[in-house]
Order: sequence, then structure tokens, then C-alpha cells
Amino acid sequence: MTEACTLVIFGATGNLAQQKLFPALYHLEASGLFTSDLKIICSGRTEYSQQQWQEHVAKSIDNHARDDRQADIFQRFIGRIQYFRGDLSVTDTYGGLKNELQGAAYPANYIFYIALPPSTYGGIVQSLGEHGMLDESSGSWRRVVIEKPFGSNLESAQNLQRKIARHLKEHQTYRIDHYMGKAMVQNVLVSRFANLMLEPLWNRNYIDQVQITQTEKTGVGTRANFYEHTGALRDMVQSHLMQMMALVAMEAPVSMDSDDLRDEKVKVLKSIRPIHSDAVSAQSYRAQYGPGRIDDKSVPGYLDEDGIDEGSVTETYAALKLYVDNWRWHGVPFYLRTGKRMAEARTSVAISFKQPPKHFFRSSHIERPPPNWLIMSMSPEESLRLEITVKEPGMTMETRQISLDAPFRCEHHAKTQAYEGLLLDVMEGDNSLFLRYDEVEYAWRVVDPVLGVWAAERDYIATYPAGQWEPEEVNRIFDNPHHQWRSVLDPESSPSSC
Ligand code: BG6
Repeated sequence: MTEACTLVIFGATGNLAQQKLFPALYHLEASGLFTSDLKIICSGRTEYSQQQWQEHVAKSIDNHARDDRQADIFQRFIGRIQYFRGDLSVTDTYGGLKNELQGAAYPANYIFYIALPPSTYGGIVQSLGEHGMLDESSGSWRRVVIEKPFGSNLESAQNLQRKIARHLKEHQTYRIDHYMGKAMVQNVLVSRFANLMLEPLWNRNYIDQVQITQTEKTGVGTRANFYEHTGALRDMVQSHLMQMMALVAMEAPVSMDSDDLRDEKVKVLKSIRPIHSDAVSAQSYRAQYGPGRIDDKSVPGYLDEDGIDEGSVTETYAALKLYVDNWRWHGVPFYLRTGKRMAEARTSVAISFKQPPKHFFRSSHIERPPPNWLIMSMSPEESLRLEITVKEPGMTMETRQISLDAPFRCEHHAKTQAYEGLLLDVMEGDNSLFLRYDEVEYAWRVVDPVLGVWAAERDYIATYPAGQWEPEEVNRIFDNPHHQWRSVLDPESSPSSC
């Protein structure tokens, strides 16, 4: 059961709140994990009566929750919620909010969730601080949840950190990366550290390459303004993909306590070989979707989406090759890629192992047997797959690949969303799955040189038709001709087991 607290959502009328936060909170309500002393203040600029706001929240749950809305649960949930109209760029709003919070109805522990564009984070924290709403000296706690990206490059992240650190201590700061709340992402840690089997192989002696893929079929949608300032490298790689990479590459932490865990992630990020500006072209690739077809429907190209600048060179696809220069990983390429409007929606970590030192089975029809792959699929399947070479049945010595597949979830397991667990963690004061500032800073250090070169080269960006994979030109980042993107799990392109 959570502790008594008041959750204030800034940007409650926006996409994130509607699509993720309200459904997640509703599911938590349904699972009976909330204390009766949880109150939620939803803040936005639009005028809503309490009745209109309730209808708004009901719609968000109807459209985005995984279960049908149940009247009794919804009544309990909506009973906690109050709408507060206010413009956060106006100082008086904070005075008004403070008065509201000091009313008897609201528990004295506060969570402020900033579900607004990154440019607002610093100003909101500063105003909350100046109005005394972040002060914990009374014994009640104050926590602030900040979405990503934290800054838009190294320098702006440092400035933002300096600004918020005047009002907020690190233990009060919850920099959220929702990928850390995904069950299969957490499973990277569990598969590695709850089993001994993988550990002896988990290093440069046996692993040939690591690929981390996140692709989507959806386009930029209604987020043109955000995306034009962000692009795929900031939006996905600097945060979600590098976090997944850190989990794959880190050493076993001393304990699963938040600082021990985050210390190990930081060591990985710190060990990533810097990309010099003259290596940017060899280690990175960007592209933008053009018009095409998704699920048999024509879709516009990025430049034709509402709100996109004419001639924009914002990347909707980014790929990066990184090396972790430590004893475990020296020389092993980590290939990271992400893209919108691609052929498939998929998130996976795919690890390929080196070839055995000698090929005995020369009469096999395969000259160079495919490597062993271990694929941790986060979506659409949640599964672990191991591909190995076996003898083909029959009299001749021929080999083939088979795969051992294990779904992560059985039918009776509920499919919880990342935001549910993370919201609960904030209420319980567990910040282990949230990013500490040094993680963010080291991740920016890695991508900053790439951002710098891309920002300077604004006259051209390669395109790919929506609904297809990236242009072949991306292959220039691979270390050798045997390296190809490998993330597909569908039955046609993967080894069958019979
Ligand atoms: C968000 C990005 O952080 O993650 C979006 O801002 C992206 O652009 C989304 O679509 C992907 O998340 P998920 O959970 O759908 O893989």
C-alpha cells in the first residue's frame, strides 16, 4: 500500500497524461495498491468544470486502458482527482497551487510530475522551489518527476541540472525513462544476474556483436513541435537505447540498491569510446521517412506531416556504433538503431556469438554456419530466443539452425505497462529505475559529437519510404561484412524448430 501523498500532474491535458499516466493510475487503482489517502491534482491551462474533467479522464481510460472501465473502480479513482487551472509561466499560479495544496484535503507529501515539454522543466522546478513547495524540512517528502530528454545536449543538460539543483536534491529528483519500467528490459538484468550460465560467455572472448533495436510503425503524429526540436537520436538513443545498452554491458552491482545499480550503469556509459567528429560518418547514420505504405495504407512522409518545417532535416531514424572500452567489452561493437514508420514495430537486444575456432563439419551445406544468437525481445513478443546449430536428421552430415524460444509471459500474467511500476516506485520512494544525473550527463557526452556534426550538415538527409527498413547505406557502420541487422523473429526468416 502506498504512503499518503498528493500527486500533482503538470500538463494533465497533454498526450502523455492522456495516453499513459491516467490509464496507468487507473490500473494501479484497480489493483488496490493505493492508500485511501492519495489525492491527484491535474493542472492544465484550459478551463474545465469538475464534471467536464471527469469526462475527459474517463475518455482517456476508455481509449488507452487495457481493461474496460469499471464503474466502481472509476468512481473511486475519480474521487481522488481535482482539476486545477493554471498557466505555469505565470508566477501567481504557483501561489494559487500552494494555497490549494495547503488545504485540509491534501496529504502533505507531494509528487510533482512534469508531463510538459523539456523547455519548461527548469522554470517549473525553480518556481516550485521559490514558493517553498520543494522544502522537506517539515518532515514531509517532495519528489519531482522529470521526463526525458533532460536537456537537448551536454551543455543544456548541465545548465538544467545547475538550475534544478538549487531547489531539488538528487534523492528528490526522479528522471524517468519509461524503458526502465518495462518488464523485459528489467529481465536483461535478471537473466544476467540470477543465472550463472550466461556470465562466462558474456564478454569479448565469446560475443561478436550486440544489436539494440527499437523500431515503430507509427510516425510523428501530433508531436511535430516536440520532435522537430528533438529527433530520433535525442528522443530514443540518448535515453532508452543507451539505458538498455548499459544493462547489457554493466558488471554485477554490489547490490540492487539504487546507487549500486546506477554506479555500474555509469561505469559503462563512462567507458564508451568518444566518437571524434571525423569518425561520426563511420559510426552513425541518420535518415528521415518519406511517403509510403504502412499496413496497406498510404501514409505521408515526414515533411508532409502537420507542423513540420519545410525542408526539415530532423532524423526519424538513427543508428550508432559504440564501443565500450573496458576489459569485458573491448573491441565488441554495440549497434544501436531506432526509427519511426519502419517495416516493423520491434524492440530487441540481439547478441551474436563468435564462430567456433575450427569448423569440423565441412561437408555441411553451410560454408560458414550462422552464429549463435541470443535474442531478448521486448516487443511485440516478450521472449528469449537462443539459436544454435544442430545436425540435420538423415544419413548425411548436414547442419541447420534451430531455436529455443521461451515466452516471458503466460496467458494468466497481466500485461502491466511501464508507467504503472514507475509511478508506484515514485510513491514508494524507490529511485533505482530512475536516472541519476551522472547517467544522463555521460549519455550526452557520447551523442554530443554526433549531434554537433549533424547540426552542421543541414543540407541533406537520406530518406526511406515509410513502411520499409532503413537504406542500405547504413551498413557502412558495420565492422565487417558478416554483420547485418538482426532483430527479426518472424517464422519465415528465423530457423524453425522442425
Ligand atoms: C518515447 C518517445 O519516449 O518513447 C517516442 O518520445 C516513442 O517518440 C516512444 O514513440 C516509444 O515507446 P514505446 O514504449 O512505445 O516503445
